[in-house]
Amino acid sequence: MATRQAVLERTASLYERVRRVIPPVEWPAFAEDVDAILALKRARNAVILAHNYQTPEIFHCVADLVGDSLALARKAMDVEADVIVLAGVHFMAETAKLLNPDKTVLIPDLGAGCSLADSITPADVRLMRQRYPGVPIVTYVNTSAAVKAESDICCTSGNARAIVEALGTDRVIMLPDEYLARNVAAETHVEIIAWKGHCEVHERFTPDDIRQLRESHPGVTVLAHPECPPAVVAEADFSGSTAAMSDYVDSRKPPRVVLLTECSMSDNIAVQHPDVDFIRPCNLCPHMKRITLANIRRALEENRHEVTIAAPLMAPARRAVERMLAA
Ligand code: 13P
Ligand code: SF4
Repeated sequence: MATRQAVLERTASLYERVRRVIPPVEWPAFAEDVDAILALKRARNAVILAHNYQTPEIFHCVADLVGDSLALARKAMDVEADVIVLAGVHFMAETAKLLNPDKTVLIPDLGAGCSLADSITPADVRLMRQRYPGVPIVTYVNTSAAVKAESDICCTSGNARAIVEALGTDRVIMLPDEYLARNVAAETHVEIIAWKGHCEVHERFTPDDIRQLRESHPGVTVLAHPECPPAVVAEADFSGSTAAMSDYVDSRKPPRVVLLTECSMSDNIAVQHPDVDFIRPCNLCPHMKRITLANIRRALEENRHEVTIAAPLMAPARRAVERMLAA
């Protein structure tokens, strides 16, 4: 049995990656799980895919592949391991399963949902199709496999405008995020029919927050996720997916920046940018935060919770995701 000291020695180089955002006193509480997870990954031929909103000890210390929803879907296509642990929310695990039907896909906590995915049912999509015959239905990946199965094509925040325009029609239905739909509508000539779903994290940001931030932090660059209300996006300096925000900081290196999105984003990016001053008013996603090192470890030890897709949904839902990836 490994001694505590041996565990700390084995994980010392990993701690170096996150020392700017995790105080030394907190590391011993993570080190044992990190060490166990690395061994379990080898033993089970498993990989961990982690979304940008995962906490730094997951994102930087145990994840094999990281990114926004689009990158995770793309990377899921190339996984060669037997087991995929999705450190993210349930729709992301379903997407990984759709693209890897023969692999074991695990989500460490079944309660890791999403307010957007909960805002629409397959019956709602069928009603929209009846109401707007012939209008293509673009569904945000933040939906259940059952909703994807009723759609023509998926999109993410990273490719929404490109997908809408690639369809070559004058009108599209875009579900379920009203704000993403309106933010895309502001940038394209295509008419967009929206739904009324909102992200419970991003809907809380207001234009007033931005004005106050600019007053109290002169010169701050404001980046907003496109799930924020359009009035927030209009006041921001840049809007893009979590990967686009990360790329913006990498390439432009703003001296002072605020990311209007989930809290862990800034921590994860800050690790690589000691010269950037991150102002951190942020909102926590309670669903993303259900994933912890402890339940990732348990997922690998006990093979839980396995994500499955009902057989009739598999082909149509997969088609909607694959059409997006091919567009
Ligand atoms: P991204 O695809 O931009 O990472 O967004 C996913 C998400 O859930 C944002 O709230
Ligand atoms: Fe869903 Fe919003 Fe959480 Fe993203 S941040 S998983 S959209 S609730």
